[in-house]
Amino acid sequence: MLPSSNSSSSTRWSSRVAFILAATGSAVGLGNVWKFPYVAGEHGGGAFVLLYLLCVLLVGLPIFAAEILLGRRGRRSPVGTMRRLVEECGVFPRWRQVGWLGMATGFVILSYYSVIAGWIVAYVTYAARGFFDGAAPSDIAALFGELTADAGAMILWHTIFMALTYEVIARGVGGGIERLVKYFVPLLIGLLIALAVVLAFEGGLLGGLRYLFKPDFSQLTGASVLAAMGQAFFSLGIGAGAIMMYGAYLSSAASIAKTSAVVALMDTGVALLAGVVVFGLVSLFALDPAQGPGLVFKTLPLAFTQMTGASYLAVMFFVLLLLAAWTSSISILEPSVVWLTEDFSMSRRAAASVMALIGWALGLLTIFSFSDPQTMSIFGYSPFELLDFTAANVMLPMLGMLVVVFAAWKLPAARTPEIWGLRSPVVWRLWFYLTHYLCPVAAAAILLHGFWPD
Ligand code: PHE
Repeated sequence: MLPSSNSSSSTRWSSRVAFILAATGSAVGLGNVWKFPYVAGEHGGGAFVLLYLLCVLLVGLPIFAAEILLGRRGRRSPVGTMRRLVEECGVFPRWRQVGWLGMATGFVILSYYSVIAGWIVAYVTYAARGFFDGAAPSDIAALFGELTADAGAMILWHTIFMALTYEVIARGVGGGIERLVKYFVPLLIGLLIALAVVLAFEGGLLGGLRYLFKPDFSQLTGASVLAAMGQAFFSLGIGAGAIMMYGAYLSSAASIAKTSAVVALMDTGVALLAGVVVFGLVSLFALDPAQGPGLVFKTLPLAFTQMTGASYLAVMFFVLLLLAAWTSSISILEPSVVWLTEDFSMSRRAAASVMALIGWALGLLTIFSFSDPQTMSIFGYSPFELLDFTAANVMLPMLGMLVVVFAAWKLPAARTPEIWGLRSPVVWRLWFYLTHYLCPVAAAAILLHGFWPD
């Protein structure tokens, strides 16, 4: 073992606010703006949203906090952190795999995340060139079809997005990540609020609110509960080692419970506001809300074409989506880069190049899944679908469960309310039951659901 893997990282965020911005940047991503609206749409809107809020509060938040706690205690990459904590607690060495698996899962997510984010880069350029000004519905449908059939174009956009992610990581925590999130997380939230204001002037706000908050319990099934939980895990970014890594840079004085609550609130707020904007526009122009993953690429641009300043609105929307994806992808890449610097004594820039290159190459599987679905099909599924399913539906819930079980049951230091930054005895009691019982059971349920959908 190399000497550097024994020493803790001395890197810290410059302030608690910096951590909150970085963690919010990690949490707020494609999951909020691209996925949440269509998943909520598929499960009947309001009733699903209510369930989602409960899942974030009772299951997602405690696991999120547990992941930060482990990271702050280990102060290394997830691999180094788990190695250290396993030694410290004298538990079964297999627990170390949580660090490895988290990093590997993040990597798989990064590979396809970068391809979809690449489409967004392409859409920013289309919007900036005025494509959406007066475009016919058939042009818009053709645009998405052509992009996802053209492997060369997708490789180009995927390369650009991965390069953007690489560059920020290579510049380090203070000079790269923190500098980026300081400006871009507030900017992305500002852009979303601006779009909501435009929607209000157009008279579509109420439609969006009604769609998202009017509960229709008849559409809820057992599967909706699990979909809400799965979405809460993905949206908070639990289990991939990203938040464990960011926790490693958090000052010992910060309250983990409080900072986690702020991040979860921001993440949920952005998802809800994005839902209102997307469905507000969809209902204003009587478009089809049940478009699934194509919603923001095929349906939403149709709304823009019917509004004044279509190009500006489209640029605003896709830039906001790009910033959300970028601040998430850097958090997913960071753990594996730090691991290479620790265990192989590589420089940060060299480590970032290696990892970005591997992530890029893995992304090609997703690209060919879209451009050449026939050849790539494995038992009727594309590699993209298999990777997404394994990472998001199997690995994240499993790792979330292991993280909270480790923190609650194996880490003696976690048995005091002070370490979580909790003061109220009532909240502490509740927290204790959530982390010991409800969270592991809920995570296990999503995991089982992953194997037996419906
Ligand atoms: N939370 C991010 C999103 O909503 C995705 C993510 C997953 C980030 C795992 C970090 C770790 O898009």
